[in-house]
Amino acid sequence: MPTEEGANTQPTDSAGSKAAILQIIGNVLVARSLAIATELGLADLVHTEPQSVTQLAHATGSHADSLYRLLRMLASYGVFAEDDDGLFHSTPMSSLLESGRPDSFRDLLTLGWQDIAWDTYRQLPHTIRTGETAFDAAFGATFFDYLASHPEANASFDAAMAVFSGPENGIIAAAYDFGQFARIVDVGGGTGGLIAAILSAHPGVHGVLFDQPQVVANMTGVEALTDRERCEPIGGDFFESVPPAADAYIMKRILHDWDDEAAIRLLMRCREAMKTDARVLVIDAVMRAGNAPDPNKFMDVSIMALTRGRERSEADFRRLFAEAGLRCTEIFPTELPSTLSIIEGARA
Ligand SMILES: C[S@@+](CC[C@H](N)C(=O)[O-])C[C@H]1O[C@@H](n2cnc3c(N)ncnc32)[C@H](O)[C@@H]1O
Repeated sequence: MPTEEGANTQPTDSAGSKAAILQIIGNVLVARSLAIATELGLADLVHTEPQSVTQLAHATGSHADSLYRLLRMLASYGVFAEDDDGLFHSTPMSSLLESGRPDSFRDLLTLGWQDIAWDTYRQLPHTIRTGETAFDAAFGATFFDYLASHPEANASFDAAMAVFSGPENGIIAAAYDFGQFARIVDVGGGTGGLIAAILSAHPGVHGVLFDQPQVVANMTGVEALTDRERCEPIGGDFFESVPPAADAYIMKRILHDWDDEAAIRLLMRCREAMKTDARVLVIDAVMRAGNAPDPNKFMDVSIMALTRGRERSEADFRRLFAEAGLRCTEIFPTELPSTLSIIEGARA
């Protein structure tokens, strides 16, 4: 039986269990409907005043009856609310789909990104049977190779990543003393949100945003930084080399994209490049045992399907560090709901 810490709150009786299973089955359709509503921009349309379905159908070029039935279902989950006059209102959940707010889920729910995820998950049985990556079976290329040659998909992914990263960056910047370093490389830093948050908090620090060339070409995350010359963009392949002679190498949500062999190779590239007393800072979830609900278990299966990655336990990280010639010096938890931690390493 699970330990108390690892227990979950799922029903134990037959009727409750049946209802819970039906709910899980239905979630597929609810998630798809949420993405369609987001793509149509319905949350923005009802933001200022409630709208009838006729108005919404007209504004979005949709079939009114079909749209009504989709909205009625979403409203039963708290996304939009229909009143007695048939007008649809904004709700706290639907407002999270609006454009232009920093905590919006909109870019995660665009059909551009969701279609990639859905086509991948269709191949999940292949992953479970063989251990091979579902994405590769669906698209005939590895995830990051595919993105490199499909600019629209790449832009959808970068935007979807920023939905996770945007609210995280300030909290991570405050969870560790990044001000002790003169030069920090953010390895696989995406569009630069984290390095910008760190540089904003520490005016004496210089940063390097290192990622694939087509990604650093779009440094949208750095735009808010007043002195952008403190952040140097460098494009390259982190399995070949990373920029040398920095005091710290950050990798946020990077090791989790890769299997152990690739993760060790990447840590070795950092070890080769770093100053003698520099730090490697892996920022990833640290998985705990037990059955408690945990968003990282969802993420773990998602990246298994997309990239052959995995979420790891503290013991896993210590082993990877050791195999790359590093030692884990300390683990700094953060206040994030995703329970990301900063796993600090130094040369062994
Ligand atoms: C999951 S995203 C994380 C982005 C960012 N660190 C964040 O937390 O928002 C993984 C990043 O790794 C980058 N990446 C993947 N393969 C790479 C490679 N071989 N060399 C450099 N960057 C790579 C991707 O372009 C992407 O920006």
